[in-house]
Amino acid sequence: MRHLISIEDLNKDDIIRILNKSEEFEDVALGKRRSRILEGKILANLFFEPSTRTRMSFETAMKKLGGEVINVSAQEASSIAKGETLADTIKVVSNYCDAIVIRHPLEGAARFASEHSRVPVINAGDGAGQHPTQTLLDLYTIKKEIGRIDGLKIALVGDLKYSRTIHSLIKALTLFETKIYLVSPPVLELPKEFLEELGGDIEKAELDQIVGDVDVIYVTRIQKERFLDEEEYRKVTGSYKITLETVKKMKESAIILHPLPRVDEIAVEVDYTKQAKYFKQAFYGVPVRMAILTEVML
Ligand code: CP
Repeated sequence: MRHLISIEDLNKDDIIRILNKSEEFEDVALGKRRSRILEGKILANLFFEPSTRTRMSFETAMKKLGGEVINVSAQEASSIAKGETLADTIKVVSNYCDAIVIRHPLEGAARFASEHSRVPVINAGDGAGQHPTQTLLDLYTIKKEIGRIDGLKIALVGDLKYSRTIHSLIKALTLFETKIYLVSPPVLELPKEFLEELGGDIEKAELDQIVGDVDVIYVTRIQKERFLDEEEYRKVTGSYKITLETVKKMKESAIILHPLPRVDEIAVEVDYTKQAKYFKQAFYGVPVRMAILTEVML
């Protein structure tokens, strides 16, 4: 694996290999075992959009494997503020490091970066495009918390139009034997062209119809920053919410996931139920990103 730009860069065997490798790194992520497998390697974090989990879990993963991290975190603090192009930035930075992680507001920016880089590029989110490393940790969470991915019924809830985590995850889930329910307000539906490209067992649903039958409820934030019209955002804000009432209707064994950050799509009281796995999901980002870094750097 050279670059990881889209989840479609991986087949099912690749995904399973990375999930198995992630499991091996979990002890290192938890501090129970030491590893220096990436000693002498440098990762460059280039984040042109805000991030807490992705940036910090890549940094943690790299450091816990003995590697080093250099950051370009704000456009104001780099020569991009002087008008340097993304292509030139990548050509220069790729001479300083062994891999680049990039988040950018424009869809396609990570692919573009990979075309100008001497080293592997990992897409950490490109506009409303893809977020493949999030998908790998989402699949890892499902596998760890339920024990399998095949055979599950999964509801994708919320902003299916602009959420890059959904765009990557739904493609990965169609590689497994899953039943996928799409639950969203009409203006946030998965784009028709996107849906037409997908195979798999997928149908639209209301949450009330399926809440007692699904194994996973995957909730997303409304991606306010992608709306061109603030008024359109205001019309849908608060249009769905997971509450204790929702949890009461779920199967005992079912889980709630969310890539985070959360705004108000999940009531805080839900955090204390055994179905809530979204904070554990954020932790799993460390072993999964350890696995990804070793795949692209070694
Ligand atoms: N899930 C996720 O991508 O979180 P951050 O925006 O904090 O990186």
